[in-house]
Formats: sequence, C-alpha cells, structure tokens
Amino acid sequence: MPDNNVKHVAAIDQGTTSSRCIIFNHAGEIVAVDQREHRQIFPRPGWVEHDATEIWSKVQAVVAGAIAKAGLRAGDLSALGITNQRETTVLWDRATGRPVHNAIVWQDTRTSALCNELGGTDGQDRFREQTGLPLASYFSGPKAAWLLDNVPGLRARAERGEIAFGTIDSWLIWNLTGGTDGGVHVTDVTNAGRTMLMNLETLQWDPAILSAMNVPEAMLPEIRSSAEVYGTAVGQLSGVPVASALGDQQAAIFGQACYDTGTAKNTYGTGSFLLLNTGNRPVPSKNGLLTTMGYKIGSEAAVYCLEGSIAITGALVQWFRDQLGIIRSADEIETLAASVDDNGGAYIVPAFSGLFAPYWRSDARGVVTGLTRYVTKAHLARAVLEATSWQTREVVDAMYQDSGVQITTLKVDGGMTKNNLLMQHQADVLGVPVIRPRVSETTCLGAAYAAGLATGVWNDLDELKAHWQRDAEWTPGVDGGTREREYRNWRKAVEKSFGWHD
Ligand code: G3P
Repeated sequence: MPDNNVKHVAAIDQGTTSSRCIIFNHAGEIVAVDQREHRQIFPRPGWVEHDATEIWSKVQAVVAGAIAKAGLRAGDLSALGITNQRETTVLWDRATGRPVHNAIVWQDTRTSALCNELGGTDGQDRFREQTGLPLASYFSGPKAAWLLDNVPGLRARAERGEIAFGTIDSWLIWNLTGGTDGGVHVTDVTNAGRTMLMNLETLQWDPAILSAMNVPEAMLPEIRSSAEVYGTAVGQLSGVPVASALGDQQAAIFGQACYDTGTAKNTYGTGSFLLLNTGNRPVPSKNGLLTTMGYKIGSEAAVYCLEGSIAITGALVQWFRDQLGIIRSADEIETLAASVDDNGGAYIVPAFSGLFAPYWRSDARGVVTGLTRYVTKAHLARAVLEATSWQTREVVDAMYQDSGVQITTLKVDGGMTKNNLLMQHQADVLGVPVIRPRVSETTCLGAAYAAGLATGVWNDLDELKAHWQRDAEWTPGVDGGTREREYRNWRKAVEKSFGWHD
C-alpha cells in the first residue's frame, strides 16, 4: 500500500517514440511507470512528423495509468514536471485547440534548403553568437517558418495572434492547464533555447532573428525558468501545480545530479546527447558542439552546457529491427552481436538525418563500409552498436577541444545502457570508465526534481545530489593502439557519408 502521507511528484516524459509518466517518492525512487508509443509518420524521405493530438491523448493515458499503478489520487501529488523531445514543433489554433498541421519532428530535414538560404553569405554560423547553434534543419525556428510559408493562410492568422507556436512542453502545459479554457502559453529556457529564436544572454526572444526568419512574436510563448509553478492542472490532475519544464537532455543532466561545472552525462535514446555543465556562462564552440542551456531554477542564475548531439543511435537498432527485419526485438541485438568477436571490418554510419555533431552535414546519408563476403548479420549487429560508441567518442573529443575539460568518467543513462556489450565498447573507445546510476530514468527524475524544488518537496541541489547512487560500471579493456586504429577506420567511413544530398 502506498503511504499517502509521503510526498509524491509525477513527471511526464514526452519522447520521440513514446510518452511516459513516472511517479517518484521523496527519496527519488520510482513508485510507478506507465508508457505508450505513438505513430511515426514519414510522408517523404527525410520528413518525420507526429500527430500532436495523438501525443496529448497518449500523455493523458499514461498519467492515468501511472496514478492507478501507484494507488494514488491526483491530490496525493505535490507537483507535476514536464520533460520532452526537444525542437519538435507544433502550431495550433488558440480558439479550437487543434494543431494546424502534424508536428514537425526534430529529425525532419525538410528545412535544409531554407537553412542554407537563411545562412546567406554568413553561412551556418549566422546566428551562432546569439543562439549557440548552427543553422540546421534540427531546430524549431526554421520549422515554424516552413509551416507559416506552406500552410495556406497561416501566416496572416499567426500575425493576428490566432495561432500558438510551441515545442512539446508548451503544447502539453497549455493543454494540462485548461487549453482553450485559459491554458497558459509558456515554455522554459531549455526548450526556448532550441528554437534558434532565443538569445542566450537575455533569455528572451531575439527580435533580429525573429525578423530574419519572419516569425511573428504574437505566436510565441512566454519564456520562463525551468522550475517554477506555471499554472495549475485541470481534469484528471486537477489542482496539481505544473511546476517544471526541461528539454529531455537537460532534464537528464539535472536527474544525473551534474550540478558542478565540468560534470557530464550521455543519454542513449533515439539519438544520444552528451552534455557538459559549463557553469553560469555560455562557452562558445569551435568544434561542432552546441552552446545550450542547462537549466534555470526559479530566479537563480541560469546554468549553461556544451552539447554533442547525435541524431541516430537507438534509432539505428530500431531500423535494423523494423526496416531490415534482422532481429525481432531490440534486446536481441546484444546476443547476435556477442556471437562474433568483432565487426569483421564493417562500419555503419547512420547519417539518416544528415550528421549532427560535430559535423553538421545535412548532405550526409547513411553508409555501410568494409563489406566482404566474410561479413555476417552478426558483424553488422556489432557495427550497429559500435556506431553509437564511435559517434560518442567524436563528441567527447570535440568537448575536450572546446572546453579543455578531459572527461575522466562518463555518467550514462537511457534505454541502451542495459546493453552490456555496448557499454563495454563505449568504455573501450573512450578509455575512461562508464557509470550508470541506480535510477536510470534520469530524464523523468530530473523533471520531477525541478518540479519538487519549485514546490518545496526538496530544499536544494545538495539534497538531490545525495540521492544519486552508482549501479554499474564498465572499465576500459582494450589497448590504445587497437582503439586508435579502429577509430581511424570509423572516421574514414564517416567521410564516405558526405555529399549524397543537396
Ligand atoms: O533533441 C532531440 C532530443 O530531445 C530527443 O530525445 O530521447 O526523444 O530521442 P529522445
């Protein structure tokens, strides 16, 4: 039986492939989880969409599921936190609450040409100083501009204030707090920072960029901190304060208790995202990383990060399962890969959405190299897993070049961290120990922590840090010579992925 006198905090993690609700107790332990997948819509090569209405109903279902599994009522929740897939863009009609188009997902490459055009003679770095980001199809601003240009009549309606723009956090908070009946239209700095429309210094929308991208300010949400009460939920969560919002990777660094400058984590999901806490100042990148927000707790100073964003890691395993049919379940890949000693010379570069960090090449497409008749599906399974660890190695190297911080251990989380073979290979190619915490659901945990801080469930970061406990550790086991030889092969394979698309 749950102890209803103990404070509980719920977190919603609206991710790329599924939505999840987790309820935590005061010790930061998981009390109940519910999860549901939603449809991935691929209208054309390179295009990826979600139905935002379906996402909202899946979110409502997982909230109901988690509360029921926990044996709690809404009144037993002290707060609700939100974390979400970042950059995915929803535009909806404020009067009807209906999206005007499917959401354009972060992986979608339809705005590549628009980004080239926006770069003009300044190129990819035109807005980097203000936003910390290169012009790439990944970010939300160009996605919103594309919708305004391509949905008939939309621009005029947006200029009249009839349309709302949001990343998924805004869409959920607006619906949770009443939707057409008084829903609050807000976002937090971590999500706003991924639109390419927010200025990293002022933490406000940047008027010059809005004008360059032709995005009317009337449709944008108010930018708030990551931990404060934005409003009160209605419906099944009636009365619960909605008290945090963080992009999923920022929530994960918060849940991993990386509160000190120089601490880092890597989350292995659809893609992988390595974030390094750089303290209260944004650190510019010269090596293909993003300068991005870490978190901002209420009125405290904002914390910034350097981020290595890798578009495709777990999604490569899904592709191997669903598109090639070589395995039936994602878990099978470890057994298949473990049936051989190495990759047999094969490398797979999964540039399905171009390549993100550290290359930012929208012209890249996936390649398989090193094939001979010797190579079997087991070698390819190994190459699929190794693609994740090599891409991580590249962003760790860039992180060192940009910040001078040499990572001495890597905190990891996310679904793929249960794959021992991958985690061992990750430790091998980085040459440092890889450590997984006991609560590996760090994304939800971070959102819950932020919501709990905003509502007095927890007092401060030291209290949260004391919850963190080690669960598993992998130590490097290969010699440096082998590691560097294989790394050279990987980089040769990466070069072969360039130049396949305009
Ligand atoms: O920037 C995209 C990222 O937030 C997506 O994360 O976990 O849904 O793959 P995930």
